[in-house]
Amino acid sequence: MTPVRSAVVTLPGVPGPGDGDPGPGPAARGATGPGGGGPAARAVRLADLAREASGCTRCGLAGGRTQVVFGVGDPDAELMLVGEGPGEQEDLQGEPFVGRSGRLLDRLLAEELGLHRRHCYIANIVKCRPPGNRDPLPGEAAACRPFLDAQLELVDPAVIVTLGNVATRALLATTEGITRLRGRSYPFGTRTVVPTFHPAAVLRGGGEALAQMRADLVRAKARLVGAGR
Ligand code: URA
Repeated sequence: MTPVRSAVVTLPGVPGPGDGDPGPGPAARGATGPGGGGPAARAVRLADLAREASGCTRCGLAGGRTQVVFGVGDPDAELMLVGEGPGEQEDLQGEPFVGRSGRLLDRLLAEELGLHRRHCYIANIVKCRPPGNRDPLPGEAAACRPFLDAQLELVDPAVIVTLGNVATRALLATTEGITRLRGRSYPFGTRTVVPTFHPAAVLRGGGEALAQMRADLVRAKARLVGAGR
């Protein structure tokens, strides 16, 4: 049992499901995940996949990267966070959300879920930095999607928090904006997607956006407890 799996079922004062949508309900997760094999085997497969991604030239972003930013965290995490794509710092350091946005994300994860980033798995829609931090193009997101899908299958999180428009639209297959989509959770196969603002938008938007992101993370915490696995 990883810290996440034990932490999420013992957090005090956390409401269960009941914010208007039922969520996927309890789902037993045995020693072997859908990716096949236990946590150690899945960690090896993620490392293999990261190695494969490090040489990827499936889209034009490959030409501008310092390195591929594959993903980081607990291969057995119950909570996955999905952002948009690496920025400058992430491209340099090889880890998602290590710049200003990442520091806010780390703070909110600690304050609202009691979790350190090492207890979660963090990935992006595209693994290479888009020039000038522009949104990934649809073709870039599509080229990178098999990596994200494999990460989802291998980590097998109960709850996915999508950060901002790009990630939320990609996973929920919608063109609706984050302002309308956030504030509730969505079934995603056996998992639950909880959309929230991108932390960069919260840094720009101030108090109300921050309060809404906090509320979304509390919703994610309730979903983790509700998943009970
Ligand atoms: N913004 C993202 O969407 N992802 C990162 O990794 C960093 C900033």
